[in-house]
Amino acid sequence: MNKIILITGTSKGIGRYLCEYYLEKGFTIVGCSRSESSLKNENYTHFCLNVSDEKKVKEMFHTIKKEIGTVDILINNAGIASMNHVLLTPMSTLENIFSTNVFGTYLFLREAAKVMMKKKWGRIINFATVATPLKLEGEAIYASSKAAVKSITEVSSKELAEYGITVNAIGPTPIETDLIRSVPKEKMDALIQRQAIKRLGEFRDVSNVVDFLIQEESDFITGQTIYLGGV
Ligand SMILES: NC(=O)c1ccc[n+]([C@@H]2O[C@H](COP(=O)([O-])OP(=O)(O)OC[C@H]3O[C@@H](n4cnc5c(N)ncnc54)[C@H](OP(=O)(O)O)[C@@H]3O)[C@@H](O)[C@H]2O)c1
Repeated sequence: MNKIILITGTSKGIGRYLCEYYLEKGFTIVGCSRSESSLKNENYTHFCLNVSDEKKVKEMFHTIKKEIGTVDILINNAGIASMNHVLLTPMSTLENIFSTNVFGTYLFLREAAKVMMKKKWGRIINFATVATPLKLEGEAIYASSKAAVKSITEVSSKELAEYGITVNAIGPTPIETDLIRSVPKEKMDALIQRQAIKRLGEFRDVSNVVDFLIQEESDFITGQTIYLGGV
């Protein structure tokens, strides 16, 4: 498949894994994160930016159109988390989390959709979390930012359907990356006990859903959030 995939948050974690996974399958990948990427591959282009910086995001799409041509698939993966009690959470945490998770997701969705609509074909995959349906204590801001992502997914799926663009979201359970390293072990064990399938998520659980959503035959599936692990 010679499609072009744009993945946000590719310096590490799930985004980095997805880059390597889809490069291996022969896709051309464009990635971004605030830091540089150590990934060197002739089919990989990296941009350094903050996903919530509208000017930089627009410039990135301008360069993609000029130098790479288009975007067929957007994997809107960049995200941050933070645990704290509602009584103790400072305003700066709200600003940081909503900037990256909501504003960043929205900006990439909007700019990618403008490119995809011209070809009447596109796949957008956003990142939700099981913290939202499980209503996890300590995660009010993170869970609510991802609830917004779920809403953006649902509403934009209706607005973009006429352009041949599907918009879905994946809601992973905990997967061992830097994102969850500060969560105490007892909290993690308790969370896993609330899943139907009681194990940590793995990178392949995410790529399995992405594989399904990006295939041609999935053109009748949109507006859905697929939670992993039976949440
Ligand atoms: N791991 C889990 O247990 C889990 C569970 C449910 C949902 N998720 C979701 O899955 C996605 C990926 O998480 P992960 O576990 O892979 O996290 P991670 O290992 O911390 O990686 C996050 C990636 O996003 C980038 N990033 C963060 N903020 C950014 C910003 N403002 N602008 C540009 N890039 C930014 C980071 O790079 P820089 O720091 O260099 O910018 C990094 O490459 C997130 O949306 C997360 O909410 C993860």
